[in-house]
Amino acid sequence: MNYTFDQYRQSADALLAKLGDFRPKVALVLGSGLGYLGDLVENPIAVPYTAIPHFKTSTAPGHKGQLVFGTLAGQPVAVMQGRVHHYEGYSYEEVSYAVRVLRLLGCQTLLVTNAAGGVNWNFKAGDLMLITDQIKIFMESPLRGENLPEFGPRFPDASYLYTPKLQDLARQQARRLDLPLREGVYMYFPGPQYETPAEVRMARILGADAVGMSTAPEVITAGHCGMDVLGFTLISNMAAGVLPKKLSEEEVIAAGEAARDRFSALVMACLAHLDAAGEEG
Ligand code: HPA
Repeated sequence: MNYTFDQYRQSADALLAKLGDFRPKVALVLGSGLGYLGDLVENPIAVPYTAIPHFKTSTAPGHKGQLVFGTLAGQPVAVMQGRVHHYEGYSYEEVSYAVRVLRLLGCQTLLVTNAAGGVNWNFKAGDLMLITDQIKIFMESPLRGENLPEFGPRFPDASYLYTPKLQDLARQQARRLDLPLREGVYMYFPGPQYETPAEVRMARILGADAVGMSTAPEVITAGHCGMDVLGFTLISNMAAGVLPKKLSEEEVIAAGEAARDRFSALVMACLAHLDAAGEEG
């Protein structure tokens, strides 16, 4: 199924009716562990996904399922508390539906976070990684089907999906906060099963530093409609086969909680300095 431009418009209009004259500039899609940043939004207007036409509801643990509008670190933001994943049964178009709606509301930047398995031998659980690029092969694109030119071209460039000047901003802020920040390529796997050790070896050979089950579809969609993107991964565990032990969801959630303060400090610092990034970069 392909959504029509009218459907995106209807979702955006339903939200506009609740926003008064507030307009978000930054969309935040927060993965496991960081959703609570939505609770820090000042003057919040929270809208449950169920109240927005055509929105899908997240079933993943730790995902609340609402959009929170307001001010965070001085920026007018829209925080997605909970995202939907392909493994929940949604198409890639459905997974990235909200990004286009937030674009219609005026968001120019997408800030995404996720938890993922570390593939790079030098990484360890608990590391924060700036995403410099992504690999999403084998799977269809969220842009498959009729192109909606209102959002972008049929064959969008993907050379700079993760905006270089925002990467520089993240490096500067990490340095300023004295937070070690890894960098690398995020490789998308559809899940919900974690990868096999053989798949992780393949990912490493192909150039991946981390493997995870989200983010890549939303970022493709954001790039298509001309948004700047900043992405961070929490290495919640080393990927399958790297260490002689099994992976568990509990380990991923616990790592998210343990990294919460560091991770949110970095995200807040990037938000606070976002406007300066363009001028410096
Ligand atoms: N693989 C895929 N997704 C993940 C992982 C992983 O090892 N850890 C957290 N999310």
